[in-house]
Amino acid sequence: MVAPQNFLDFIDKNQDKFIDRLAEAVAIPSISGDASRREDVKKMASWLEAQLNKYGVKTQQVPLGQQHLEGKTLDLPPAILGRIGDDPNKKTVLVYGHFDVQPANKSDGWDTEPFKLHVDKRTGKMFGRGATDDKGPILGWLNVLETHHTLGLALPVNMVFCFEGMEESGSEGLDELIATEAQKGKQGWFGDVDCVCISDNYWLNTRTPCVTYGLRGIAYYQITISGPGSDLHSGIYGGAVFEPMTALITLMSKLVAIDGHILIPGVYDGVSAADADELKRYSELDYGVNDLESAAGGPVANSDDKVTVLMARSRNPSLSLHGIEGAFSGGGAKTVIPATVSGKFSLRLVPPQTPEDITKKVISYIESEFAKLGTKNTCKVEFLHGGKPWVADASHWSYEAAKQATEAVYLTTPNYTREGGSIPVTLTFADNLGVNVLLLPMGRADDGAHSTNEKMDISNFIKGSKLLGTYLYELADITLKKA
Ligand code: BES
Ligand code: MN
Ligand code: MN
Repeated sequence: MVAPQNFLDFIDKNQDKFIDRLAEAVAIPSISGDASRREDVKKMASWLEAQLNKYGVKTQQVPLGQQHLEGKTLDLPPAILGRIGDDPNKKTVLVYGHFDVQPANKSDGWDTEPFKLHVDKRTGKMFGRGATDDKGPILGWLNVLETHHTLGLALPVNMVFCFEGMEESGSEGLDELIATEAQKGKQGWFGDVDCVCISDNYWLNTRTPCVTYGLRGIAYYQITISGPGSDLHSGIYGGAVFEPMTALITLMSKLVAIDGHILIPGVYDGVSAADADELKRYSELDYGVNDLESAAGGPVANSDDKVTVLMARSRNPSLSLHGIEGAFSGGGAKTVIPATVSGKFSLRLVPPQTPEDITKKVISYIESEFAKLGTKNTCKVEFLHGGKPWVADASHWSYEAAKQATEAVYLTTPNYTREGGSIPVTLTFADNLGVNVLLLPMGRADDGAHSTNEKMDISNFIKGSKLLGTYLYELADITLKKA
């Protein structure tokens, strides 16, 4: 079924109104990782719930318990569950998204205030924290709902919503909610869901839309090395003591080689090599090393081969070093020996790797390498959070609907991609509900999620809203009967 013309026209005509709504959403600094912003995350939940209610979606706020953060006990932000439509002759689509964002300060290097949407009509770009990750895409769904509500159009499918405010901090509490609801079977909130659609990722480049069938998992660690009772003067103690920083840097240098090869024994166990078919699929994607480098803003690719680069960023595991807490990091030249330092790093995982299995290998390797140093320092390795990798069946009817919707809206066939980032709840939905999950991105490769000057192009926001709505129509068409 093609999407009705008045739906598409309404989206075009109401562009400015939709942008104003995005500005409202961006203005709420719903940073889940910052204890002092927890009220804003809750405010964002209530704002979103009110929007859904306005367009006929029945909702509930589900409390998810508490967490410890920065020495405080805090309520987790609630999940918003919603539902519109109850027609047994229609498919039921579950839409997931997250209304929390990464931290941002203008002083990080933003050109404009991160929590005040800056709309540059000349370039067609909208800058603000959450513009692409993930407020823009969530608002795409609102645009679809508002259009149907205002025009008095019935939605072509039943819709169930699950929005959370902790995704950027490991989706705390959500797995339990999904498992509990799934155990209730048909009576549960997700009882009649036929497929899941998530818009929380990006095109591979700045021109070709994607449908995405895989995400990497993650396992995040910190190594803490301690020694002296307090920071020391390097003139007084330097040369005579085992320095925690020296031990930490030595250990961190043994995790990954400069070409990205991971040095931890056994990490690659079970990770298959790509066969000829898979390599061919990557080689056919509209992508080049220059797409990576222009999105990254510098000549940084570690290979000149497109397929190697694509596989490195999404189908193979990786290890990144993130930072050192406790190290001297200010300006100037302080002559200090830090007493306690914590090195942070994470691995991105692919099937069949799991955070549990990788953690055993990481801990035993670091402990044995630390022992070899023969210092009197102490070493503690902690697993901070994790999520399993996910790969879906891209020949499923939901992917067919997404492909047809993309062709209708963008007049081109989408790239079929696996992504390097992680959304741990994706696999939770797939496993607990036993249904197909599709990722249908709105934004582009150069949007700068988590970065300074995060943006969404107006054209992606508007066409992306049409895409999400058109996908629902294509879905209704492909499967007239329940599977
Ligand atoms: N939207 C991203 C996930 C993503 C990133 C998809 C890149 C595709 C490409 C999501 O909001 C995110 O940032 N996830 C975290 C998860 C972590 C906190 C468990 C990530 O990937 O670091
Ligand atoms: Mn996201
Ligand atoms: Mn994110």
